[in-house]
Amino acid sequence: MTLSDTHETETQDAARALFLELTGRQPDGLWSAPGRVNLIGEHTDYNDGFVLPFAIPHRTVAAVGLRDDDRGRVRVASTFADEPVEVALDELDELFPTTLGTEPAVPEWAAYPLGVAWALRQAAMAGAAAATGDARGIRGIDIAIASDVPVGAGLSSSAAIEGAAASALNDLWSTGLDRTALARIGRRAENEAVGAPTGIMDQMASMLGETDAAIFLDCRSLDANLVPLGVAEAGLAILVMDTRVKHAHSTGGYGERRASCELGAKIMGVPALRDVSVDDLPRAQQLMDDVTFRRVRHIVTENQRVLDTVRVLREQGARAIGDLLVASHVSMRDDFEISVPELDTAVDAALAAGALGARMTGGGFGGAAIALVEQDAVTTVSDAVAAAFAASGFRAPALFTVTPSAGAHRDA
Ligand code: GLA
Repeated sequence: MTLSDTHETETQDAARALFLELTGRQPDGLWSAPGRVNLIGEHTDYNDGFVLPFAIPHRTVAAVGLRDDDRGRVRVASTFADEPVEVALDELDELFPTTLGTEPAVPEWAAYPLGVAWALRQAAMAGAAAATGDARGIRGIDIAIASDVPVGAGLSSSAAIEGAAASALNDLWSTGLDRTALARIGRRAENEAVGAPTGIMDQMASMLGETDAAIFLDCRSLDANLVPLGVAEAGLAILVMDTRVKHAHSTGGYGERRASCELGAKIMGVPALRDVSVDDLPRAQQLMDDVTFRRVRHIVTENQRVLDTVRVLREQGARAIGDLLVASHVSMRDDFEISVPELDTAVDAALAAGALGARMTGGGFGGAAIALVEQDAVTTVSDAVAAAFAASGFRAPALFTVTPSAGAHRDA
């Protein structure tokens, strides 16, 4: 049994046991979806740009069953919460979209699966109204969730919940949506039910992940191409360095960065920063204040780094991408200003201990960094990072390697 089998089996057991406790019966099935690491391309997704994430072995499992009482209610339970939350399907349209600044009507954890039920039901009803789909399958449902994706670590535990719930409901309600449409449902839940103004990278990575490959995604067209990573073949490993500094994208910095990007695009007279190239940067610098310019420069150069990373991976392999990872971190630290001392310490310590490249991953303000390291240097680099954290008086980081893994699927 591999490590990822062990992960999955324990989480499956936990979801199944919770479903049994909730309902007194077995679920109709188990569905799961993974968290993700982003190799490169940060904050580019909501700028219509490019990203290169991959799914990780850590997964969220949803044990789900249609309710036979047929009272049109949806009930969700999670191993992270003491109490289940139950609402009528009709009530979902009153709960969401969440109005900014008001007290949430359901606890945040429940807004993810309930937001997915809301968005999927709306999509099905819109499809039925347009006679392209069928909403008759939408019935009351019980959902029990368990997960081993670290929460608040920047590894998309939320997209994993959305992906597992969306896959389950799509099957049990016979809504027949494809993976990209399910990713959009997940993002809608995140944006409008949870209130985090995020892009679509995490949901696409969780839906489309494949073993040994990263997903090269054009966030404007949503065209996705798999890029083989060949990390293990090159004798390398990807080390996750979770600082255990928690972040939340429904508050503060994430939304501010997004607003700066929108302002930058407006000043440049383009629909999105995707349409600004590296050659346009001198002109951008003339037109905007220094802070907005540096936000723009991060996005524009980061888009270029994603394209460069894909080319280098294809032409030279994983061993050659280290400098691009480091340049990405420097840009996030100095221009986009979303790093924190713990992330910088992890990156610097990993590089000093011989990592080929390292960068923070995800939305920033906490969470995790990644390092590309020789397989036989994983322990040395991990020890060096742990020692640097101790020397700085930081809480001990969580350190583990990940391999690119499968996206959302039905498990049982
Ligand atoms: C979070 C968001 C994504 C993306 C990243 C930054 O993970 O959910 O949409 O914007 O931050 O790249």
